Amino acid sequence: MLTMADGLKIGIVGATGAVGQELLSLFDQRSTQISELRLMSGPRSAGSTISFRGEDLTVALAAADQFDGLDVVFFSAGAGVSKSLASAAVDAGALVVDNSSAFRMDEGVPLVIPEINWSVAGEQKIIANPNCSTIILLMAIAPLRSLGKIKRIIASTYQSVSGAGAIAMQELIDQTRVVLDGGEAVPESFGHQCAFNVFSHDSDVDGNGFNVEEQKMFEETRKILEDDEIGLSVTCVRVPVLRAHSEAILVEFEGDAPSVEEARRVLSQADGVRIVDDREANHFPMPIESGGEDDVFVGRIRKDAASSNGLWLFASGDQLRKGAALNALQIAERAFS
Ligand SMILES: NC(=O)c1ccc[n+]([C@@H]2O[C@H](COP(=O)([O-])OP(=O)(O)OC[C@H]3O[C@@H](n4cnc5c(N)ncnc54)[C@H](OP(=O)(O)O)[C@@H]3O)[C@@H](O)[C@H]2O)c1
Repeated sequence: MLTMADGLKIGIVGATGAVGQELLSLFDQRSTQISELRLMSGPRSAGSTISFRGEDLTVALAAADQFDGLDVVFFSAGAGVSKSLASAAVDAGALVVDNSSAFRMDEGVPLVIPEINWSVAGEQKIIANPNCSTIILLMAIAPLRSLGKIKRIIASTYQSVSGAGAIAMQELIDQTRVVLDGGEAVPESFGHQCAFNVFSHDSDVDGNGFNVEEQKMFEETRKILEDDEIGLSVTCVRVPVLRAHSEAILVEFEGDAPSVEEARRVLSQADGVRIVDDREANHFPMPIESGGEDDVFVGRIRKDAASSNGLWLFASGDQLRKGAALNALQIAERAFS
């Protein structure tokens, strides 16, 4: 059985994007053994070069005939690309780790956060990475299940612009400069100005008033926690932050909520979670500190003031890392361990 240590033949579809670039830097940080690296993009960047470990690699146009011989292919180019090309990668014998929403809710496709539900991965040839806001939410609350049954979750997100990709990050930088210089910002990636603004998440809103991001968090949480009764109501909002999403989370238990001390103890022992909870210094999770880090930061742990069964948390995690590239790489690391 091939392992990571043998040096894998790896493909990345979407290598020039925000998630693809993060994956490349994680390969270096985690000393991923790679015997071949095939980088793919859309027509915009095809033919360009990316320097990796001292070699200039030419980016190919992603196509069904590009996957021969690869052990694993990371897809991060949107759901449409995954739907049209993932089966070709599987047919070529590769494990597909998909960052898009294409297969997440498909029966038979495991939706995996390794620290929480690696056991569902099995021998499947497509493994889906959950939505980034779902990953950050569940990293913060899943460990608390050892303290009592979770009945309902109410959350509000503060999502960075990098959740919408590399071009959106540049847009926030450019718009900030334009506005500071007295100019007028012209929104392109979003329907609204992102610099100096806060707006409802840029995904379609359904007849009940929830947008697609909020629905994803609801459906994916139920699938990952294997609990069709858990209630979840979320408000997803974009904030002018470059990277790392934050979330204010109320966790409601079936009985009384655990104490703050119990919750802090369990969370401090959870893999991939870092407690940042200093009331005296008023120091809690912030994107400026969680950005670029692997852990999801959790703090502001406090009992709900309105009911005995609620516990509040504030979480912040780099959604390009744990919310996308890192989670995907951890899946591959476990699959080839
Ligand atoms: N950003 C996040 O925080 C995040 C988190 C979780 C999941 N995701 C998901 O990950 C995926 C990528 O997101 P991103 O933020 O990295 O987006 P991005 O920065 O906009 O990058 C998109 C990538 O897809 C490539 N692409 C575009 N059209 C293509 C096509 N027809 N065939 C092949 N490749 C094509 C682009 O290549 P060109 O350079 O040629 O345009 C680029 O490499 C999306 O499905 C997104 O929902 C993103």
